[in-house]
Amino acid sequence: MGTSDTFQLPIPDGHDPLHERLAAAIERWISSGQLRPGERLPTHRELSRDAGVAIGTVTKAISYLEKRGVVRSETGRGTFVNMVVEPAAEFTDLNFNIPLPVVDEGQFRAAAVQASSRLSNTPNGGYPEPGGHKEHRKILSDWLSAMRLELAADDMVVTVGGQHAIHLAMADLAGHTRGVATEAATFSGAIAAANNLGLQLHAVDHDEEGMLPDALERLFAESECRAIYLTPVCQNPYGFEMTEARRKDILAVCRRADAFIIEDDLYGIYSDTGSPTFRELDGERVYYINGLSKSLTPLVRVGVLAPPQPRRGAIASRIRAELWGVSAFDLEVAKALFEMGAHLSAREALRAEARSRVELAASILHLRLPMPSGSPHVWLPMPKIAAQKLARQALEQGVRITPPDAVAVGGEKAGGVRLCLMAAPQRDSLTNALRVIADLRAAAGFESVAADLHIV
Ligand SMILES: Cc1ncc(COP(=O)(O)O)c(C=O)c1O
Repeated sequence: MGTSDTFQLPIPDGHDPLHERLAAAIERWISSGQLRPGERLPTHRELSRDAGVAIGTVTKAISYLEKRGVVRSETGRGTFVNMVVEPAAEFTDLNFNIPLPVVDEGQFRAAAVQASSRLSNTPNGGYPEPGGHKEHRKILSDWLSAMRLELAADDMVVTVGGQHAIHLAMADLAGHTRGVATEAATFSGAIAAANNLGLQLHAVDHDEEGMLPDALERLFAESECRAIYLTPVCQNPYGFEMTEARRKDILAVCRRADAFIIEDDLYGIYSDTGSPTFRELDGERVYYINGLSKSLTPLVRVGVLAPPQPRRGAIASRIRAELWGVSAFDLEVAKALFEMGAHLSAREALRAEARSRVELAASILHLRLPMPSGSPHVWLPMPKIAAQKLARQALEQGVRITPPDAVAVGGEKAGGVRLCLMAAPQRDSLTNALRVIADLRAAAGFESVAADLHIV
């Protein structure tokens, strides 16, 4: 379509936000064949004129379509209709951070039978206590002491997985801080939670073990940000671990600024260094988060949040207001799985497999990886535009990886792609997928670049 053409872009009526209705109109226009895959859209100014909306609405509509993969923006060139990507015959998804299915069908069946036999004894006919019944909290406290750290049942609330815990922690801190600091790239769910709560995310420079204390101190001095969100083990997406010394330095900076730490320890079972958790270093300044999804199974949606003790009651009330609590059935299934020792065998199996897969990735991709003895995800740093292109080309060849936009807080500093190594159930399909990525990297001239995580 020539840029001087004018065209009709009727925006449908409805209650959806204007930019979504404009996006729907553009999408209809593409699906009607007036604009074909690979062709350039009119400029934002032209779209704004022809649809009779503000340029800001056009920008929002395009970004909405971009997130859904309908179009892509190329800096300095414009916005293009994406090619229709037919899934390749063998499709490997390395985008979702799911653990291997270490709990088998027999174990689930046995756990479900066990859980069913106990349900008649569940208090309140199954309705949860806000924050969790003491008996359920005790189960999780025993689980955590076997897996990671001692945490009293009275110090925690039970959550619907890790994501719920992140949102609860940020919501609780919203009265204390205007923003949340994290690394240049972070877990997409933390970005979603902060956005949902209107908290600004700040990217703090990091090295190969995490956030730099000096950079954090500067941020606190220059802003009203008084909270940080960290995945100190297997940082998501960079895949490094924070040492004890660095944790203590970060904690000291937070104490001086009266800032709080959200410690997302879902990958804690992979710890290499044996560093104490932030929670063990200072329980009064830390919102500690863990859950079953990465260390056992995401099918049982159970997590834990241990906030500073004075905040526990307020957080339990929030849970009561939002969703009442975690399903008693899920908690009974979790209990039955723990009684079988499934969590302990899962930990061994996942750690051993992660170690082998990291070695495999390091050899195929010629990388120096920050957690050589095992992380479920690795990061390939490269300029952001090249990373976006790599993710697109990989998808065309049947391999889905995480593009930088999904995890970026720090703009250009977040250049790279994430590969979730545990997501492919078979090692062979992972090997093939890694070869696809290696070939694409080589073709783009990145094959000899060692993974340099000093993205400061
Ligand atoms: C660092 C991190 N925290 C939390 C979550 C979400 O945990 P859950 O599935 O238990 O809600 C994820 C999921 O990918 C994650 O990577």
